[in-house]
Amino acid sequence: MADVTIPLARPWITEREHELVREVLDSGILSLGPMLRRFEEAFAEWNGTRHAVACSSGTTGLHLACITSGFGPGDEVVTSPFSFVASANAIRYTGATVVFADVDPDTLNLDPARVEEAVTERTRGLLPVHIFGYPADMDPLMDTARRHELAVVEDACEAIGASYRGRRIGTFGNPAMYGFYPNKQMATGEGGILVTDDDDLAAQWHSLLNQGRSDSGEWLEHARLGYNYRMSDVAAAIGLAQLERIDEILERRAAAAARYDRLLAGIDGIRLPYRGEHERSWFVYWVQVEDGIDRNAVMAALGERGIQSKPYLPSIHLQPAYRELGFGEGMFPNAERLSRQCLAIPFHTMIEEADQQRVAESLAEVLAAAAVPAG
Ligand SMILES: Cc1ncc(COP(=O)(O)O)c(C=O)c1O
Repeated sequence: MADVTIPLARPWITEREHELVREVLDSGILSLGPMLRRFEEAFAEWNGTRHAVACSSGTTGLHLACITSGFGPGDEVVTSPFSFVASANAIRYTGATVVFADVDPDTLNLDPARVEEAVTERTRGLLPVHIFGYPADMDPLMDTARRHELAVVEDACEAIGASYRGRRIGTFGNPAMYGFYPNKQMATGEGGILVTDDDDLAAQWHSLLNQGRSDSGEWLEHARLGYNYRMSDVAAAIGLAQLERIDEILERRAAAAARYDRLLAGIDGIRLPYRGEHERSWFVYWVQVEDGIDRNAVMAALGERGIQSKPYLPSIHLQPAYRELGFGEGMFPNAERLSRQCLAIPFHTMIEEADQQRVAESLAEVLAAAAVPAG
């Protein structure tokens, strides 16, 4: 494989991040300090929710939301097999059973009809994922949740700023989790943030992520079984700097996606990202190869040209950690097909048009040569 000359993802770091990180370092308060509170308050205001509670990662925040939704042993929670493994793992951490429902082949999100079929008398909740930044179909999912009295946790890790029927995700009354890993639209290194309008829920999350400390403020009193899922003030400083530019970040990514749409239009053998009625927040840009084209061979040939790509995303139920629970091939055909055929190509906030052009030209060449039988 050639050296990577066009990377898949890269965070956008400016002098403002340095300035705010220096402010934290100079203050000497590296944890539970004023920067963390500033970041949480600024995020809540931007998101339009009463509270935003910062955590150490997207995964840990999802775990907290699953705990406070009451998921536990004997419960079933329905989620998507076409996601990053953490969304299902968060359910398993509580002792609840993961139940997958297949996805819609266009939106790549949970198919509400399959979700309805998956509900049993043991179902306690739904965990829709707004995959690749496109909102899950919340109206029918919320309808199912209401009829069966289910808690809903939204995995919005890839979808900051997306909206469903003009309404920003994370404002549907459910706990919703955003992720800030460096490949995300907004990055803090490791980190994420939970949002809610519910004062009591926010207080529970603040306690749970801080070793279950009691609301009395007594440092060595632990009211409940807690965790250390805190975000450091250094990470919060990076987050605040990024949040100040979030609208610009989202606009630049949307513009880069539109450029790819244009550059890749007319190339045979691939399908471009779905453009539906809801507003996507551009997390990744991916293409889906058509039947008969070997996605892995395409990725290898791009790699030879110094262009990084990733098989986004492997189906969760086919991971060894899920096969051992009895899952296997053929259970969720739409997810499995997407997992065989989709690849993410270089995409980030500051990607240059010249690099996108090179990716498009390389992809066209590789696909033209790809009369390769599927492996
Ligand atoms: C859909 C989804 N859920 C959960 C996570 C977990 O987030 P983190 O890596 O911050 O723990 C990620 C990202 O990595 C994700 O893409």
